[in-house]
Amino acid sequence: MARKILAAGNWKMNKTPSEAAATIEAMKATCASDTVEVLLCVPAIDIPAAIEAAKGSNIQIGAENVYFEESGAYTGEISPDMLLDAGIKYVILGHSERREYFAETNETVNKKMIKCFEKGLVPIMCCGESLEQREQGITIDWIRQQVKVGFLGLTADQAKAAVIAYEPIWAIGTGKTATSDQAEEVCKAIRDLIRELYGDAVAEEIRILYGGSVKGSNAAELFGKEDIDGGLVGGASLKPDFGDIVNFK
Ligand code: PGA
Repeated sequence: MARKILAAGNWKMNKTPSEAAATIEAMKATCASDTVEVLLCVPAIDIPAAIEAAKGSNIQIGAENVYFEESGAYTGEISPDMLLDAGIKYVILGHSERREYFAETNETVNKKMIKCFEKGLVPIMCCGESLEQREQGITIDWIRQQVKVGFLGLTADQAKAAVIAYEPIWAIGTGKTATSDQAEEVCKAIRDLIRELYGDAVAEEIRILYGGSVKGSNAAELFGKEDIDGGLVGGASLKPDFGDIVNFK
């Protein structure tokens, strides 16, 4: 079964609502595609303007984070219902920047994964090793642990709808892309783990993205690998030439 390639942007803490709208207007032409699913995950405050700007195009708007409680005294947080009501389907969870700067852990990511599926959001769960971990030779063990804990308690139907993004921390925003063989090795290990946990059908259906300095010039090679089903793209998703990644072929 062919998995549809997902080109997902992660805008991080960039662009005001009006800048977001202007950028998306310009992306409508460059990011048009019949074959690739196109998603921009934007800062929460940009979501309404981004959704309005993307109307009538193939560009979907996603979120960069969500909280695992439904409502209440959690100053500054955003609930799943708020995202759903705004028209969001996809949400990034557990990005390495959230783990590093905002105390996100495998356990909080797992709580968010469970809540997303309970409410009907689709999580893009990030995992990835540091340079030190790669040099110590513990990359695969580390990633398996992140994914195992992140997926605890999810059913097979939920797992197959989830998206996993493998993002080596040393490749994020550094211009140092993992080689396509390095990226494939880990994405394949993740699919093998999903097979162990949920069986063949789920392993064949779940989409696994690579992230870390993806750009127009390396997208074709990365996305051409058997176990890489698209990319989570930071810097190169901020400009209309994100279309070079969407139209990588
Ligand atoms: P980058 O970021 O493409 O700028 O390396 C990727 C990410 O952090 O998702």
